[in-house]
This record gives sequence, C-alpha cells and structure tokens, in this order.
Amino acid sequence: MVALEIFTQSGWAMLARWGHFLAGVTWIGLLYYFNFVQTPAFVDFDAGARTDAIRKLVPRALWWFRYGALLTVLTGLLILGFQEQFKADYFKSASGISISTGILFGLIMFANVWGVIWPNQKIVIANAEATASGREALPNAASAGRKAACASRTNTLFSIPLLFFMGFTSHLAPLYHDVTGSKRATYWIVVLVLTIIIEAIALMAPSVGKPQAWHIDKHRNTIIAGFVYWAVLILLFEAIF
Ligand code: HEM
Repeated sequence: MVALEIFTQSGWAMLARWGHFLAGVTWIGLLYYFNFVQTPAFVDFDAGARTDAIRKLVPRALWWFRYGALLTVLTGLLILGFQEQFKADYFKSASGISISTGILFGLIMFANVWGVIWPNQKIVIANAEATASGREALPNAASAGRKAACASRTNTLFSIPLLFFMGFTSHLAPLYHDVTGSKRATYWIVVLVLTIIIEAIALMAPSVGKPQAWHIDKHRNTIIAGFVYWAVLILLFEAIF
C-alpha cells in the first residue's frame, strides 16, 4: 500500500512551502527586475519609448508583482498553520524569533507593495496614458514615481535579511539557545526601532527632496545597505541567543 505522505499534515505544510517559494520567486524576482534592470534602463530610454513601455510593459509586470506578493504572504501563513512544531512556546524559541523577524519584513514589504508602490504606479501609468493620447501630463506623476521608487528600494533592502531569516529558521536557528523574556524584549526593541526608522525614511524621503537618503539613492547603495542591515541583525542574534 502506498503511504501517501503528501496528504499528511507535513505533506500539506510542504505543499504550502512549495507554493510559497513559487510565489516568493515571482514577487522578489520582479522586485529585483524593477530595481536593478528597469529603473536604470528607463533613464536611457527616449521619452516616447518610455511612455510606451510604461503603458504596455509595466502594468503586466506590476500585476504579477502584486499578486505574487499576496500569494507569498498567504502561503507563508499557510505554512504557519500546517507546520507541526508551532506549539504555544514556539515564538519564544530562536527559530520562532527568526521566522517572526522574517515575517515582520514580509508584512512591511507587502504593505509597501499594495499601499505605496501600486497606488503611485497607477498615477505614473495614468500619466503615460494621458501623454500618449495628447492630453496634459499629470502634475503629480513625478512625485508619485519617486514615492514608489523609495518604497521599492526599501523593499529590496529588507528582502536581503528577509530571505536569510526565512532559511535560518529551520536550518540554523534550532542550534541557538532559548533565552529569558527580557533578552527577547531587547532583541525586539532593537529590531523594531531600526526597521521603523528605515521604513519611515522610505515614506518621508520623497517629500524631503533630492538626495533622498544614501541607502535608497542608488540601487548599488541599497544592496550594500541590505547586507549591512543583515550583518547588524545576525550580530544582534548571536549576542542575544
Ligand atoms: C509575510 C510574508 C511571509 C510569511 C508569513 C512567510 C512565512 C514563512 C514560514 C512560516 C516559513 C517556514 C519557516 C520554517 O519553519 O522553516 C517560511 C519559509 C521560507 N520563506 Fe517565507 N514568509 C513570508 C515572506 C517570504 C518572502 C517574501 C520570501 C521570498 C522569496 C520567502 C521565502 C521563504 C523561503 C525561501 C523559506 C525557506 C523554507 C525552508 O528553509 O525550507 N518568504 N516563510
């Protein structure tokens, strides 16, 4: 008799994990395409070609991008629901703290996609449609583009530690020790303060004017900042757990 492990609770968790990887690759792959390929390339496009690309290419890419983000979050929550190790004390363990850190970044990034990037990109697309049909350009199009870019670069920064903590959770964190509540509190205060500052800069930088902020001014800086932030977080983790 075939055991059909795939229909056990661990099997469902594995299927959710698979869906999570597929959706995550779609989301983060497009995020990197926007940041490392499209945005730098658009600078060199003629105005007409750029308008054409914004009308015909960008909406398709943004559709896969935002629904990829939605599916990544939903499948991530499904893993949480199916996985057997998630007992009451799980979120106090090093693994639980690790996945919570990854999820914190994931939820902020999701909010940036649906709450900042997509609404502002809709203005950029509407502007391209207006100019293509000979109507007047939208006055807020440039600032909308900047707001979307700041949130998008910030998501790129967060994606670097996010992916580390996603993998770290099962593959290294179980080797760390459980610690007291006050040590966990210290960890969370540092992580939350730093993360809120980075996100606040993303939301406020566009109104401050150029240069926006070193870490989201150029995609090269964003990559460096992502690894620096990862280094800070892993040193903190090592110090506490
Ligand atoms: C709010 C959003 C997210 C939630 C709720 C979430 C949730 C989870 C959970 C519960 C796990 C299982 C951890 C474990 O016990 O091993 C996991 C693993 C993972 N997630 Fe996420 N995740 C989110 C975002 C992302 C994103 C954006 C990516 C990017 C591609 C991603 C990629 C991964 C990877 C690669 C693993 C590793 C699985 C393994 O080592 O077997 N996740 N995630």
